[in-house]
Amino acid sequence: MTILLPGAAGYIGSHTAIALVQAGYDVAIVDDFSNASPEAVRRCEELTGKKMPLYEADVADKAAMEKIFDEVKPAAVIHFAGFKAVGESVAKPLKYYRNNLDTTLTLLECMAEAGCKAFIFSSSATVYGARAAVPYTEESETGGCTNPYGWTKFMIEQIAAGAAKADPDMSVVLLRYFNPVGAHPSGRIGENPSGIPNNLMPYITQVAVGRLPQLSVFGDDYPTPDGTGVRDYIHVMDLAEGHVKALEYALGHKGTEVFNLGTGHGVSVLELVHAFERASGVKIPYRIAPRRAGDLAEVYADPSKAERVLGWKATRTVEEMCADSWRWQSNNPNGY
Ligand code: UFG
Repeated sequence: MTILLPGAAGYIGSHTAIALVQAGYDVAIVDDFSNASPEAVRRCEELTGKKMPLYEADVADKAAMEKIFDEVKPAAVIHFAGFKAVGESVAKPLKYYRNNLDTTLTLLECMAEAGCKAFIFSSSATVYGARAAVPYTEESETGGCTNPYGWTKFMIEQIAAGAAKADPDMSVVLLRYFNPVGAHPSGRIGENPSGIPNNLMPYITQVAVGRLPQLSVFGDDYPTPDGTGVRDYIHVMDLAEGHVKALEYALGHKGTEVFNLGTGHGVSVLELVHAFERASGVKIPYRIAPRRAGDLAEVYADPSKAERVLGWKATRTVEEMCADSWRWQSNNPNGY
């Protein structure tokens, strides 16, 4: 059974491709490499010993995608393709709406034409916006997003759920990721942001490896135990295994289901910095900087629904997240 993975040359998709192959699925990957490298897929093949057919195409390109669906005949689609930089989405909203919505619409149209009924989407905790209180459950209020990136996630959730409502044979699983960090324990694949990282963990690892001089901690006056922002960091391999469980669920059910994929445990910026220092033995110079616009004090999941319904639970510790991020970055100081 082949699973089509648009965008899986990227960070989360590449780790998920490995978990799927290890669970016995065949995978096929489509990516335009606008923010990813074919080397990631080559290394996934090396790690699994299995060929992963790789198509270079824009996922929004209907004609190209129809050909790929024809060839691959996927049993399900796990949609990772999308732009993801929050700040850039504020500066270039149309680019984000165009790309993230068009890729999704093309995929759903191709699925309908090909009779492919299971769709799993990389959504985000960002859909909860600033309205709900932590910990977020799947029933917490969504909307009120603070940037176009977040709105694309929110809108795609509506689009996919609408498609499932119109086709009673369809299954849609929306996965709301919290903060993915870490890397495959081999250190061969990991997060490889282009330019200066926006996210905390890749920023820390690039300071550790000497590519950046110091970390700016965005605010130390939040109402949190040490004043710095609290997030629910989840190991990307736990997240990848969550996709395998979500796929099994999607193949056996119809309709739309939403799951939080997080640990349920909040960690502050300074706690993560110190855990990283312990795991790597490298000191991270930092300064306290002003709060970053749009940031919330605390974001963490209630992940109990995924445990109850999917039988999935994150098991890896913050120490493993830091050790695996460091192994990847120190073995690949300049990425792929
Ligand atoms: N932070 C710093 N310094 C940095 C980078 C981040 O102090 O250089 C802090 C932030 O202020 C925040 C925490 O580290 O308190 C985590 O920030 P990230 O940028 O790593 O992650 P966010 O929680 O802001 O963003 C993540 C995903 C988004 C998603 C969002 C909301 O990257 O895709 O969660 O769920 F939209």
